[in-house]
Amino acid sequence: MPDIPSYQLDALNLFSPLEVLEHPKLTAADLQLWVKRDDLLVLPKETDYPAFCGNKWRKLKYNLYHARAGGYEQLLTFGGAYSNHIAAVAAAGTLFGFSTIGIIRGEPAQKHNPTLAFAKKCGMKLHYVNRSIYRQKDEPDIQEQMTRPFGRCYILPEGGTNALALQGCQEIIHEIETQLSDSPTHICVSAGTGGTAAGIIQATHPACQILIFPALKGSFMQQEITPWVSESKKSWKIIEEYHFGGYAKWKPPLIQWMNTFYDETGIKLDPIYTGKLAFGLFSEIEKGSFSPGSRIVMIHTGGLQGRWGFMERYGSELLT
Ligand SMILES: Cc1ncc(COP(=O)(O)O)c(C=O)c1O
Repeated sequence: MPDIPSYQLDALNLFSPLEVLEHPKLTAADLQLWVKRDDLLVLPKETDYPAFCGNKWRKLKYNLYHARAGGYEQLLTFGGAYSNHIAAVAAAGTLFGFSTIGIIRGEPAQKHNPTLAFAKKCGMKLHYVNRSIYRQKDEPDIQEQMTRPFGRCYILPEGGTNALALQGCQEIIHEIETQLSDSPTHICVSAGTGGTAAGIIQATHPACQILIFPALKGSFMQQEITPWVSESKKSWKIIEEYHFGGYAKWKPPLIQWMNTFYDETGIKLDPIYTGKLAFGLFSEIEKGSFSPGSRIVMIHTGGLQGRWGFMERYGSELLT
């Protein structure tokens, strides 16, 4: 992996393209679909390892400004061994000059997977905690005990969702408003913690419906998102049936579908989040869930570093 450069945080003005997608299924259903290419918001640009990508820039941007303004020199966060958020915080540290600490769920593996190898390469200090303690990390006393040994740190929650992250995600909508002359009727987005979706809901006009496709199994997403959004925001809906068994679970038809989508469109997806989103969206299109004339925007939230961990575990021939 080549050396990772540094950037001036305040000088970065990242903006992602909105691309129209041509596809026979869209023509057949009389729909228009645009992809908001946040996967192209990649840093570092000099390497082919897209660690700081997609919604990670959106969610970290104002947190990084805040950490810098507060004189913090260290960022500390939490995550699983294949977490996109861990990779992104590690990259942010190197790119913008913070030390980073990752509290990782589970026992140390003998050999680091691509995510943790990258985090280490970026200088992140990795600390492993067993799963039962990790589960309690959001309890203030436990968190204080876990983080005290590291001194003064800017603490980012697992997955990076907080009020400043939502502020960054709202900018996805502000950009789309400048890119599309007529408002979309639907915006489709993947969800893990629901923070990205919550930011999008907050910024979107009520005439547009937000469709949220969780990457995890279970009916908790409504509960996760509700506290972050105003009561007046009603036009959002969770579509639960495209998790493929749960977080990081997959089935061959998902991977085959992602490969075909890449051949047809040149857009790479990740098997954890955006693959499930796009699969779900096209399944809904085939079911006839959208009225003719609908104008849909799909948010590509990135996650491409997750492809490396997937290929390491299941074989590099699976993903094109
Ligand atoms: C690529 C990608 N898309 C979507 C999400 C979900 O974002 P959120 O946790 O804000 O729901 C994540 C979360 O890590 C992600 O990495």
